Amino acid sequence: MRYAIVGVGGRHAMFRKAITETHAEGNDLVALCDVNDSRLALSAGKVPKRGNGVATYDASDFDRMIAEQEPDTVIVTTPDHLHHEYIVAALKAGRNVMTEKPMTVDLDKLRAILDAQRESGKTVTVTFNYRYTPARTQLKDLLLSGAIGEITAVDFRWYLDRVHGADYFRRWHRDKEKSGGLLVHKSTHHFDLMNWWVASTPKTVSAMGKRVFYTPEMAEALGLGGHGERCHTCPVFDRCEYRLDLANDPALRELYLEAEDDDGYLRDKCVFSGDISIEDTMQVQVRYANDVFLNYTLCAYSPWEGLEIKFHGTKGELTHRHVEVHGVFGGVRDKSAEENMTTVLHLHGRRPEPLEVWAGEGDHGGADPVMLGYLFEPGSMAPDKYSRASTHKEGAWSILTGIAANTSIATGQTVDVDRMLAEAGIVLER
Ligand SMILES: NC(=O)c1ccc[n+]([C@@H]2O[C@H](COP(=O)([O-])OP(=O)(O)OC[C@H]3O[C@@H](n4cnc5c(N)ncnc54)[C@H](O)[C@@H]3O)[C@@H](O)[C@H]2O)c1
Repeated sequence: MRYAIVGVGGRHAMFRKAITETHAEGNDLVALCDVNDSRLALSAGKVPKRGNGVATYDASDFDRMIAEQEPDTVIVTTPDHLHHEYIVAALKAGRNVMTEKPMTVDLDKLRAILDAQRESGKTVTVTFNYRYTPARTQLKDLLLSGAIGEITAVDFRWYLDRVHGADYFRRWHRDKEKSGGLLVHKSTHHFDLMNWWVASTPKTVSAMGKRVFYTPEMAEALGLGGHGERCHTCPVFDRCEYRLDLANDPALRELYLEAEDDDGYLRDKCVFSGDISIEDTMQVQVRYANDVFLNYTLCAYSPWEGLEIKFHGTKGELTHRHVEVHGVFGGVRDKSAEENMTTVLHLHGRRPEPLEVWAGEGDHGGADPVMLGYLFEPGSMAPDKYSRASTHKEGAWSILTGIAANTSIATGQTVDVDRMLAEAGIVLER
């Protein structure tokens, strides 16, 4: 298969390595495309030499790239608000698409993608790596087996610490127009897991959201009032726990700092800036089409990082807890402990039963290597009894909870998802 990648920033490297190194057999990376020449050259230089090497194209030459290089599949790893441009262009040119999450950030862009997919008949794969984390697949396995009977309600909480959480407040993510806010950008993973775990889709959504930590007022309160626009030249750099040190991180330095002159993209803007438009504290309530209820919290400044989820069912409860980071000390994350995932089945009339948690090696709790196997070497993988592969349809449903939640935050009203879709002229099967 021939692949082209558009958007060669931090995330694309996972796909590039899979195609050119770990799953190179039968796969060919034919082109890279970006607006930034330095990042293009950096990425092309990391591709192991084979044949004619990889061609690079400026984003304005995307159509020429398709015509000249004839990729079977275009992989989209640009900032979120640009996904639809390349997804639609690739589909119209008769190519399949693999896109990073979130598939897109608002209803107009979603409609454009769904129309182009329908008209072209080509495939859109959304790379939801979280489904492939062995511990999360185990939850699906237990729920599928009816371990807790009929699922009735779910409590789901996701906590981002002050290193990872802060990172969403530095660059394009912090602009709601560009990322959809964390309820789209980040929670697309969580709402996709929910849709998959409970085998349903959101029907009504109500939400609250606010920004209370990443604010100019908090900078003052932390004694960081004299901060600059960015960390690299910031007057309070030495005493700020939230700084990103681009100059002293070799990977970030070459990818962002040394590429700045091309396009002015600053990777390390101050997390306490006044022009941030996303929330850092969010709660959402969802009623699913199959009448499962969800209570969801996302906090982006927690003292630890991880998740807690409890599925309530007619026979009992299934509880999963994953501590990814135990705490942040002086800006350094402690990820040390071995036993940091627990899954407990508590059935009516029995004591809670701790289960052996399914484990795996690699990024995102062992998810990424499994997903890459299915994406790039499907013949070597067992048939997927958990149906983890995701199309435009799952991509769409995963963002609709967050899009509806954003509307609910803005209006204070509960959003009926069917009505929201009808008003936007979107036809989507449940
Ligand atoms: N699934 C996951 O766990 C995961 C993790 C990280 C990122 N992501 C997703 O991957 C995508 C990329 O994130 P990232 O962290 O690599 O961002 P990034 O900012 O590091 O990289 C984006 C790249 O897109 C390029 N770009 C900007 N405008 C462009 C345009 N008009 N045309 C072509 N290229 C353009 C930039 O120059 C940059 O090289 C996002 O959608 C993000 O949500 C997913």
